[in-house]
Amino acid sequence: MTGKPRVWISRPTFPDIIARLEPHFEVAAEAAETVFAPAELAGRLASSDAAIVGLDVRVGAAEVASAPRLRIVANLAVGYDNLDVPALTAAGVAAANTPGVLSESVADYTWALLLGAARHMGAAERWLRAGHWRANGFRDWLGLDTRGRTLGILGMGRIGQAIARRAAGFGMQVAYHNRSRLPATIEAACAARYVDKPTLLAESDFLVVAVPLTAESRHAIGAAELAAMKTTAMLVNIARGGVVDDAALAVALGEKRLAAAALDVFEGEPAVDPALLALDNVILSPHIASATWDTRRAMTAMAVDNVLALFGHGPYAGHPPSLVNPEALAIRPAP
Ligand code: GLV
Repeated sequence: MTGKPRVWISRPTFPDIIARLEPHFEVAAEAAETVFAPAELAGRLASSDAAIVGLDVRVGAAEVASAPRLRIVANLAVGYDNLDVPALTAAGVAAANTPGVLSESVADYTWALLLGAARHMGAAERWLRAGHWRANGFRDWLGLDTRGRTLGILGMGRIGQAIARRAAGFGMQVAYHNRSRLPATIEAACAARYVDKPTLLAESDFLVVAVPLTAESRHAIGAAELAAMKTTAMLVNIARGGVVDDAALAVALGEKRLAAAALDVFEGEPAVDPALLALDNVILSPHIASATWDTRRAMTAMAVDNVLALFGHGPYAGHPPSLVNPEALAIRPAP
């Protein structure tokens, strides 16, 4: 390699953090949020040794095949369903994510959504802004208390656990379902009870979806699962669009077979199913659960650390802190 390796950053982040790359890399950072046409994306990846990308950048087998210089793709996200990890691994390209640093912010936001759904916050605000508030009706906007009710969590990784730890403050019991049961110490720390999925669906007053999107979890909450829930229940999706079948959810909400929902993620986002947009008993937000100053800065720093480390620099030199496919380095050793 002659000269400095080149790192491409697909979206505006935080210049003071990106500056840590500058002694070691030629840095090409996009100045604006951009939707890349396939040829533009392929071109940027092909001319880069490292890429720091947002979830909207899909790196598939074709992009990997046309980017022989590329050594690492560092996602600005904990989820990495936008990356074809087997294709990256086969080509010896490392893939990294940002686990841990966003769990608490996402858990806070999950509770904001849950409470917002429980207390009709979206619909009530729309009603007020529309100028309908003439008098206080004693029986208007009656919501659901959390106290004494069951919070169900589907997916009990770091984020699920952070959500569960907050439940005691709201007087809730926690039930969870996960691919594998957690150690007793973690269950005790989260005051969470393991149940099978049918029990979770049947018992939850509030069901939070916190599983990554994989082939197995696609439509983990579909028409059949929604039909198995209480009609008074509320669903919160902070995981990934596609884990919930949005069309089936819109039908269930429209027919009041489910009381309410709150969604931060959508199938095919940024497009949102028009049937959801038409409903008043669903809170919709544009994939912002990790969007706090501290957390987005920490995510950026983690992506930068992964890139620096792969190239032998920074605080983790030689040991990228969060590779999802460390086996890629056995195929092509780090530069
Ligand atoms: C956001 O959705 C993430 O995966 O970090």
